[in-house]
Amino acid sequence: MPRILRDVAALREVVAGWKAAGEAVGVVPTMGALHDGHLSLVRAAKQDCARVIVTIFVNPKQFNNPDDLLKYPRTEAEDAALLAPLGVDVIFAPPPEEVYPEGFATMVSVAGISGPLEGAHRPGHFDGVATVVAKLFGMTQADCAYFGQKDWQQLQVVQRLAADLNLAVKVTGCETIREADGLAMSSRNARLSAEARAKAPALHAAMQRAAAGIRGGALVSTAMKAARAEVLAAGFDEVEYIELRSAAMLERVSTLKAPARMLAAAMIGGVRLIDNIAV
Ligand code: PAF
Repeated sequence: MPRILRDVAALREVVAGWKAAGEAVGVVPTMGALHDGHLSLVRAAKQDCARVIVTIFVNPKQFNNPDDLLKYPRTEAEDAALLAPLGVDVIFAPPPEEVYPEGFATMVSVAGISGPLEGAHRPGHFDGVATVVAKLFGMTQADCAYFGQKDWQQLQVVQRLAADLNLAVKVTGCETIREADGLAMSSRNARLSAEARAKAPALHAAMQRAAAGIRGGALVSTAMKAARAEVLAAGFDEVEYIELRSAAMLERVSTLKAPARMLAAAMIGGVRLIDNIAV
């Protein structure tokens, strides 16, 4: 089983030993409730780095909805069992007061790309993400960090943060892992009822159809409107957004001239799902 550490001092001591031996350190930041998507990040880290840390911390600062924070699954024992066969060295699972001690006063905010899409629908979310990721990079002193492309906007925010603050960490975005029916793996999928789970792949299917249409010359606005209607007709309760954006800066794209990203967020049976694909 990987060692489970809960305080920064103990983590620093272990990491200092690895660094003294010239070993590269990789980190996979997570909020737990691990699935195959997370495990693929761990495998990528293991390929590049002699030592791998998985952090498990449900970050209160990135939840703008207290109910969502409360309901977020916490499954540390199961997570540790999943990580054991993968050769993870340390699970860093600090309590909130270790990450945000009395007097904590600093927030990290990445302007521009944090604004639209998730940023508009979850105010403050990316400030919470950027703050905790900057702290996790500082606490783990990792050389390499691995994030899923499933959270595309988060990946862009983290890459910008690392570049802007000259952090000595190489950020890698790994492919989204999907269920056989196309549903992107997510810790939130566990909260889908059987009925909602059966309908959920319609989001990815509608996005793929829209992407094919746009590549074939359909108007972006028409394709997006059709995709929204298709998702609602499939049984989703609400589509928060479904849009085509530039891949890195997430600016609106009305005509496909360069590689772009289609991003969506939609509610089904009280669960909020997000997805994105390359176009
Ligand atoms: O993607 C997540 O699980 C979280 O946003 C992260 C990167 C671990 C920060 O809390």
